[in-house]
Order: sequence, then C-alpha cells, then structure tokens
Amino acid sequence: MLTQCRMCGSADLHAYLDLGATPLADAFVKQPDIAEPYFPLAVQYCAECSLSQLTVVVDPRLMFGDYCYRSSISGPFRDHCRGLVQACADRLGTVKAALAVDIASNDGCLLSAFREAGSRVLGVEPARNIARIAEEGGIPTVSRFWCREVAEAIRRDTGPARVITGTNVFAHVDDVGDFVESVAALLDDTGIFVLEFPHMVDLVRHSEFDTIYHEHLSYFLLRPLVRLFERYAMTIFDVEKVAIHGGSLRVFAKKTSHTALPVRDSVQAILAEEETLGFYRLATYHRFADRVATVRRSLTDFFTEIVAAKKTVVGYGATAKGNTLLNCCRIGPEHLAMIIDETPQKQGLFTPGRNIPIRGREALEGAAFDYMLILAWNYKDAIMRKTEAFRRRGGKYIIPIPEVTVL
Ligand code: TYD
Repeated sequence: MLTQCRMCGSADLHAYLDLGATPLADAFVKQPDIAEPYFPLAVQYCAECSLSQLTVVVDPRLMFGDYCYRSSISGPFRDHCRGLVQACADRLGTVKAALAVDIASNDGCLLSAFREAGSRVLGVEPARNIARIAEEGGIPTVSRFWCREVAEAIRRDTGPARVITGTNVFAHVDDVGDFVESVAALLDDTGIFVLEFPHMVDLVRHSEFDTIYHEHLSYFLLRPLVRLFERYAMTIFDVEKVAIHGGSLRVFAKKTSHTALPVRDSVQAILAEEETLGFYRLATYHRFADRVATVRRSLTDFFTEIVAAKKTVVGYGATAKGNTLLNCCRIGPEHLAMIIDETPQKQGLFTPGRNIPIRGREALEGAAFDYMLILAWNYKDAIMRKTEAFRRRGGKYIIPIPEVTVL
C-alpha cells in the first residue's frame, strides 16, 4: 500500500476509485484457464500536489521483463513520432547530428524518426525481447531500466545528449525523482528533455477509466510536474496538447541554468486550465468515479443484451486498456469470439483474466461478425479504415469509451 505521494511525499492521500482486483494488463497468457495473479486496482488523490496514483505498486520485473507491446505496429503512432522529432527540431534549431536518447525506446519507433532526421540515436529499453528487435532494426539499445547509473555510463561513452525523450514511460515509474535526476545527469547544458504522457484532464473528461492499470502508477497533471522538475534544477518551458492516447501532454524541459530558452505562455495556460476545471479539488475525482460506475454498468448491460440477441462480436486491438475494460465489465469469451491484433508477439496468446484468444488480421477473412468492439479506441479511425470490408458486409463498430457508441 502506497502511503506517501511519490511526487511530493505527502501522506494526505484519498482513494477515490476502486476497480477491483485485476490481473496485469499486459500479462497475456499462453493458454486459457491457468491460475493468474490478481492485484488490487484503485486510485488515490494527493491533496498536496494533485497527483493521482495507484494504491499499490506491483514489482516492475513482473510487468516489464518480457513484454509484447510494440509501438511501431500502430501506424498513427509512427506519424506521431515524426511530429515529435519536428517539435524538437523547432526548439533546438536542428536535431541533425545531435545525440537523441529515448527512455523506454521499445522497438525503436521514435528513434527511427530521429535517425531519418539525421540524429545519432541510442535507446534504453528494459524488455530484452523488444530491445533485441530494435537492435535488429539498427537502433543501438541498452537493455536496462532507466536510472542514474545508466545515465552516467551513457554520458561517459557518448557525451551528453542534446535531446532526451520519454513517451508513455513516466506513468510506469515509481521513483520519479531518480528518473528526472538521471535525465539531468545526461542532458547537455543546452539540451531539451521531452516527456509525453496522457493528461489526467482528458482521462477524466472522456471517462478513459480503462487506461488505469497496474503499469500506470501515476496519472499526471502539469502542476505536480512543474514542482518536481524544479527540485532537480530543471524548468518546464513549453507544453503542447497532442491527440495521442486519448489526449496527452507533450512537456518540454531544460536545465534552469539555460536561460536562452524562454518559458512560454503555454505552461501557465495549461496550469490555469487544470485549476479552472477543478482538477486541484478532490470532489472532481469523486464525480469521475460515479461516472465510471455508470459507464461500466452500461457496458456490461450492453454485452448481456448482445449475447441474448445471439449477435457475434470480434474485438480489435489486444490492448492493455482493453484488458482493464474486459475485466472490469466482465466481458469474456462468451461475448467476444476473438480479438484481432497485428502484433506478431501477441498472436496465439490469450488476454489476461478473460482469456479471449488473439489472432492476426487474416482471421477476419471470410468471417461474418455482427459487431467489432474497438478496444484500441485511440486508433479507431485507422482501424475502421483498414476494416472497410467488415463494414461493407454490414458489420457495425462498437466504441466503448467515453460511452458505448455503435457506428
Ligand atoms: P495502444 O493503444 O498503444 O495500447 P495499450 O492500451 O496497450 O497501451 O495499442 C494498440 C494496440 O492495437 C497494439 O497491440 C497494436 C494494435 N493495433 C493493431 O493491431 N492494428 C492497428 O492498426 C493499430 C492502430 C493498432
């Protein structure tokens, strides 16, 4: 049980959302009906700095040792990476010949975009099976968890980094202070650090409760981050909203001593938005929890009716968030025949908890399903485009978030 806020140390924590016990969302299993470990899944709010965080921390070695998530499978994410590289170039003048280090670099998707722009690249990725894929694609990768020792070793070998990036990794980190301090240790005095994470404002406003799972220890607002960076002599100087993963913030930080980069108005604008919308008040989160209960109930009811009407449903996107959704709403193989996912590492496996089989796209050929549940709703447009044939045959899409919608 976490009794102190990981961001500010306060013990003034208030649990507001309990999703019950679930298995780890990325722990796909090789066969159905085997005993799987379950862990409590609940979120608490820090009244001191406004960070939302899980009440328990599962051992990261259980979650990230052998991993099947591949960032480059999702086409829109590849486009997003090119945009991120451009955003760095805009702020640095150029990224050509600069050393770009990506933390939790996965299969090298973002670093490939940096390489195309002429940067020197280095990935840090703890999952050995995924780091190997990056290496095979020509992206040098250190297979370690990010920490001070790794940062210092890289600096000794390659010199300081002009750009350090971390996309969708910060929520996975328990010791956030060590993470930022290690970034400061590797960053060039005039370099930039870019951090991307889903914004709690979007999560709450669009009821994205399924993005809550054990890998995601924290749910960020800008406010607690500004303070955290200050502790390590770093300053957030710009923030952009980006559409990826249901609405994220892209935060740009620099060393505070680098005064040539001015702090832009965007920082104050997002802080003001968070405050105006009530995100620094506990009551907002209690209202969110009530809404989540309603969304969960309506999803469960919807699938009960579908089965009663003898309709068939296929899922698309064997996502971690999908597993929260399926487990919390008790949607199982009796509702969903299979889930399609293009990640070779996931095909042939079963989802954790509900044990729904995962197949490649070819399983859709010749099959006639009435509905397709888009579990990767963050990529729904791309998925709908590539499943045109399903729609032409009269199939309908179910988008579960922010509320059940049939298209
Ligand atoms: P993502 O939404 O990043 O999920 P998570 O909730 O696990 O963080 O993952 C998208 C998943 O959907 C990933 O397993 C790849 C898969 N996918 C496809 O198979 N085809 C596609 O066209 C897209 C966009 C995603």
